[in-house]
Amino acid sequence: MKQIELQDVQLVYRDNERKNVPVILFIHGFPFSQEMWSKQRELLNDRFRIITYDLRGHGRSGVGDGQYSVELFVDDLMALLDHLKIKQAVLAGLSMGGYVALRAVERHPERVSGLILCNTRSQADTNEVKLKRFAQFRELKSGEQGSFTETFLQAVCSPEHYRDDAEPVRKIRRIISETQIMALCGTLLALASRTDTSESLPGIRVPVLLVAGEKDVITPVEDLRYLQEHIPGALLEVIPGAAHLSNLENPDAFNKALTSFLSRFH
Ligand code: MLT
Repeated sequence: MKQIELQDVQLVYRDNERKNVPVILFIHGFPFSQEMWSKQRELLNDRFRIITYDLRGHGRSGVGDGQYSVELFVDDLMALLDHLKIKQAVLAGLSMGGYVALRAVERHPERVSGLILCNTRSQADTNEVKLKRFAQFRELKSGEQGSFTETFLQAVCSPEHYRDDAEPVRKIRRIISETQIMALCGTLLALASRTDTSESLPGIRVPVLLVAGEKDVITPVEDLRYLQEHIPGALLEVIPGAAHLSNLENPDAFNKALTSFLSRFH
């Protein structure tokens, strides 16, 4: 693990530092960490420069003042690319990571050579989703991290995986339990206040892979179909048996889609 000191926070990242190969930078979802990408790191390690990092407030990165926005997450991402002297990268984001990637390509299209958008959407939160986040915020503030986590896990994993307490469920439960309440609350507000990136979709000019989870109820397949309809030439893969955590719940199918898409970068 390496770290970069930003003005107000420290970000922890991994970089295999491979030279003269395309760069793939992975952005995790909420409230996970770069650990969620371990199988994809392994898969691609020999052929690409692979970077994963913990967003502020997550994993081993610093929490800072707990006041976050998706804008700030994009600023952090650009600071990381600048620090590593990377001009362009394929951005791969799951859910919140996808929101960050979509806002990054909207603000800095010259830094993005491709997009892998998993279990995500371009629309901002509806009032209903905002109210759900404020209820979660209240629950966390009153010290109910355990009940927040279980309700959250039931929503993000397929019913079968949750019932069987499958490996991805245990992994995510542990990661959430290691995340500070201040960071969880700060990120909920960041998600609720993010901008809508839908208008810029037709202007995306890089190869795009969209990944949906067959059983995802948070960002259902229709959200990814919407992206496919609006981003020129985007490919869509629906991962069987997976809900919101498609790379963890069905890594074989996810990795196959990833490898096939990335073959165009060599
Ligand atoms: C995520 O997985 O990043 C979150 O579920 C995203 C969201 O709640 O919108």
